[in-house]
Amino acid sequence: MSERTISGRGRDEERAFEATLRPRKLPEYIGQEKVKENLQILIDAAKARKEPLEHLLFYGPPGLGKTTISGIVASEMNVNLRITSGPAIERAGDLVAILTNLKREDILFIDEIHRLNRTIEEVLYPAMEDFAVDLVTGKGPTAQSIHLKLPRFTIIGATTRLALLSSPLRDRFGAVYRLDFYSQDAMEQIVKRSALILKVDIDEEGASEVARRSRGTPRIANRLLKRVRDFAQVRAGGKITRDVANEALQRLDIDELGLDDGDRRVLAAIIDKFDGGPVGIETIAAATSEETDAIMDVYEPYLLQLGFIARTPRGRVVTQRGYEHLSRKPSNRAKERLGLLLQEPAAVTGPVQGSLWDETAQ
Ligand SMILES: Nc1ncnc2c1ncn2[C@@H]1O[C@H](COP(=O)(O)OP(=O)(O)OP(=O)(O)O)[C@@H](O)[C@H]1O
Ligand SMILES: [Mg+2]
Repeated sequence: MSERTISGRGRDEERAFEATLRPRKLPEYIGQEKVKENLQILIDAAKARKEPLEHLLFYGPPGLGKTTISGIVASEMNVNLRITSGPAIERAGDLVAILTNLKREDILFIDEIHRLNRTIEEVLYPAMEDFAVDLVTGKGPTAQSIHLKLPRFTIIGATTRLALLSSPLRDRFGAVYRLDFYSQDAMEQIVKRSALILKVDIDEEGASEVARRSRGTPRIANRLLKRVRDFAQVRAGGKITRDVANEALQRLDIDELGLDDGDRRVLAAIIDKFDGGPVGIETIAAATSEETDAIMDVYEPYLLQLGFIARTPRGRVVTQRGYEHLSRKPSNRAKERLGLLLQEPAAVTGPVQGSLWDETAQ
């Protein structure tokens, strides 16, 4: 289902489009006020001390702006940004080559850092901590170990899965920031900002409508704006109003909360096949023919945020609100089970909690 319009995941063909819409400086980055404030302090302090920034880690669902904010940090610090990703670094030697080419204060951005393999992580820890790598050259009795000093650099890691990071790696970061879904207000500002850059004619209500259906995710807002713009151009004289946005989004089968057919299938599968749950992520994935990763990264965080599903120690359950959204009624047994499960202290409902990505799939 990589073609879902409302998946927060990026697509290759979107890159150039995203680049034009990407904020470059901190004040242009809308929302995430707490993160921004903390970053500003960190940046000002590092600059005042004329020291490189400490290592930073950003985590949260796809499309919330992890790559964007990392670029902003580099530009606010006036330093070079080198970009790589967990899966791109295949051998320890690749990482050593990257590290030994860094200059003082350079920022190395490692996207999908949870996908680094363990042998590479073992080169990374000491490099992050001591700014040095140990190289072994040759084999057997002639093998030699060389201790290479590195300049003081900064690693910025980004991940959608904090839980998959080993704890020694996590501990090497001076600051760890979680990006949250954006508020309606922030989303409206993002839509208006993008519309301005794209020279799209949109009124307040039109922007509010696109924002409301974008799952609190800037990448989705930009994508929907593009689709609505096309519709407005062909059918409505180019201007995006509430009615135009509504009609365009309905045609894409995106409901007033930003849910699409895929989300509704996930909810319906838990209700119909498992009487509302609890059920594990893998089982939901199998029942809906979706990838486990897609369920964890894209469907679950937003359904949790809406309070349509809850996480319990025994798996996911559809909540009363989830039933209501599909105009369904829970069976008596499901009601009873739901009541009991949600009383358990470990159950997570409602807006995203800090621990959400800290746990692995059950
Ligand atoms: N705070 C923001 N203000 C305005 N636009 C934003 C903001 N955050 C993200 N965007 C827009 O959303 C798009 C996606 O952001 P970005 O690529 O940084 O997400 P990401 O978290 O790195 O996603 P992924 O997990 O897929 O790598 C960017 O092109 C940018 O235009
Ligand atoms: Mg990214």
